[in-house]
Amino acid sequence: MSKVTLSQVLSQRRTVRNYSDASIPLDVVKRLIWAGQGITGSDGKRTAPSAHAIHPLRLYFLVNRVVGLEKGLYEVDLSDHGLKQLSGADLYPALTKAAIGNPQCIMDAACIIVICADLLTPIQAFADQKPFGSRGVRYVYLEAGAAAQNLQLQAVAEGLGSVWVGGFDDETTANVLGLRGPLAPIIQLCVGYPASTE
Ligand SMILES: Cc1cc2nc3c(=O)[nH]c(=O)nc-3n(C[C@H](O)[C@H](O)[C@H](O)COP(=O)(O)O)c2cc1C
Repeated sequence: MSKVTLSQVLSQRRTVRNYSDASIPLDVVKRLIWAGQGITGSDGKRTAPSAHAIHPLRLYFLVNRVVGLEKGLYEVDLSDHGLKQLSGADLYPALTKAAIGNPQCIMDAACIIVICADLLTPIQAFADQKPFGSRGVRYVYLEAGAAAQNLQLQAVAEGLGSVWVGGFDDETTANVLGLRGPLAPIIQLCVGYPASTE
């Protein structure tokens, strides 16, 4: 892969919703995950900042076309960027149905990274700061935005296209992913090699 500068990647960044049928190599997927939430310090600090270093984000990963990975739902283990398979079911149709307007980009994506978050811990950590109760939620959204931007920029550097999908029914999406406890889906990134028409 030829080296590109951050300025070049930023200039090229665009939303891409149409993908080819090509599969994504596993090492490319691992670099994407690393860009989003890679641990870069012995103190557990990551590629994206986190208020009070709480690090409430969790990554879920849906595979459609990734070389060497079965289709299904995976949870990302950030300690080693490993992927633990949670389900072999094809959740793409259910995820599409849970999104506003049933977007085709979800069905067509080679993989989807869903940034989820533990909302409760930051809410409690910042409960004594105005605006009481919502500061923690605000921080989670900011942190998810930073992670999503990292992911999209890394996708550009890898020759991939991606789209942020924020328009979805939270509860239905959480059920599709089998999220438990205080975990909530915040933003999805559909990823694939761009179709030649885009
Ligand atoms: C918070 C957020 C949510 C978004 N949600 C969706 C979405 O649900 N569906 C979609 O097709 N695009 C979505 N987008 C992508 C925007 O439509 C896109 O960024 C915008 O059209 C600008 O185009 P650009 O990214 O190429 O600059 C979202 C973008 C952001 C920042």
